[in-house]
Amino acid sequence: MKLWGGRFTKETNKLVHNFNASISFDSRMYKEDINGSIAHVAMLAKQGILNDEERISITEGLNSILNDIETGRLEFDDEYEDIHSFVEAQLISRIGDAGKKLHTGRSRNDQVALDMKLYTRNEIIEMDKLIVNLLNSLLKIMKENIDTIMPGFTHLQKAQPVTLAHHMGAYFEMFKRDRERLKDIYDRMNYCPLGSGALAGTTYPLDRAYTAELLGFEGVTLNSMDSVSDRDYLIEFLSAMSVIMMHLSRFCEEITIWNSNEYRFIDIDDSYSTGSSIMPQKKNPDIAELIRGKTGRVYGALMSLLTTMKGLSLAYNKDMQEDKELVFDAIDTTKGCILLFNGMLDTLVFNKESMRASAEGGFTNATDAADYLVNHGVPFRDAHGIIGQLVLYCIDKNISLSEMTLDEYKTISPVFEEDIFDAISMETCVEKRNTIGAPGQKAMREVIDIYEKYLK
Ligand code: ARG
Repeated sequence: MKLWGGRFTKETNKLVHNFNASISFDSRMYKEDINGSIAHVAMLAKQGILNDEERISITEGLNSILNDIETGRLEFDDEYEDIHSFVEAQLISRIGDAGKKLHTGRSRNDQVALDMKLYTRNEIIEMDKLIVNLLNSLLKIMKENIDTIMPGFTHLQKAQPVTLAHHMGAYFEMFKRDRERLKDIYDRMNYCPLGSGALAGTTYPLDRAYTAELLGFEGVTLNSMDSVSDRDYLIEFLSAMSVIMMHLSRFCEEITIWNSNEYRFIDIDDSYSTGSSIMPQKKNPDIAELIRGKTGRVYGALMSLLTTMKGLSLAYNKDMQEDKELVFDAIDTTKGCILLFNGMLDTLVFNKESMRASAEGGFTNATDAADYLVNHGVPFRDAHGIIGQLVLYCIDKNISLSEMTLDEYKTISPVFEEDIFDAISMETCVEKRNTIGAPGQKAMREVIDIYEKYLK
């Protein structure tokens, strides 16, 4: 059941067949393979290479195969090497001789390049939809938490107060960039390789632009050797997925920290948590951890394909078949993780009191206390030193800056007045920061407005 038996005198060794075959994983491109063939045949007929009767018979045959696969009437058969051989053999068994003309002016090399591009293109669109859903979830949380105060961290040490809206906004930016990356890749890859043949084009008067148009491509690729051996777009896609996973992973790390007994910033919904087989009290953030863990798998796929490609001479080499399992697995993993993450995020409960209480500790208002002095004429470096002393004093007494009395303030600097307490309240610390991009409500509302328009 081969496309290439002619020059062989022996059967393929069974292990060799299994090792060489890709149908177990490339069968998932059956629809792309069939649609690509239908477009190819339409073009062959337009060019007078096939007659209309042949075109109709082949097209009907291909559509019946598609239909039978989708309704479960036809199962993939691993006696065949790949999805391309399987579909062609099916066609010939269904319509006879006309089916043998399907592969005119085509090689599996440009065929697989086409199938993979069609498949990837669609998956980019699907992934983008999932990211849009995630962005909508983030925006909802932002709108509801424009005044929910929480500590912002650097080095995982409390730094300055921010809001939950602001913190979520950081992830909104990341996932927004992820969408842009996907779009860039889509635009760059959207050129049709069909008609490149095995590597050197074909001798038939193909109308490559017509096939490209039928399949919704922006145009045709301009070098047949590159067309059959270009896997850049897959590497770029793996790279974009790696970045998406990295973003999810950072978010998951925060969720794991926020969910810990020490923080209690959030409660993960029971439906998105798991228990322990021995410790009855446990409710674990397994989903967040697993998403963080699966990031390594997607990075691995990127490294793997880069390594596969690095030593390949032009043009097609069988090594390239290794692209599929990696890319398919990375797509499944990334899409699955975005979906699961979104569900977990939508059902998270934010413990606003814990967040606020945490922001009050750790001297997150120390910078604002120093700014208070600066606003009263003290040079910043001196102010920094004075507040440093105050912090030391507070640590010693185990109190916060807002728990000090005015007298205590005044023993360190006479500049302090009653309004210091207002100046270092959490609300003031956030509200004073209203340049675009900062957590203050006015700035936040402007950004939320921009995001709302962006998602429409
Ligand atoms: N299964 C092959 C792949 O994924 C299809 C192309 C086969 N071409 C060839 N010359 N052996 O790359």
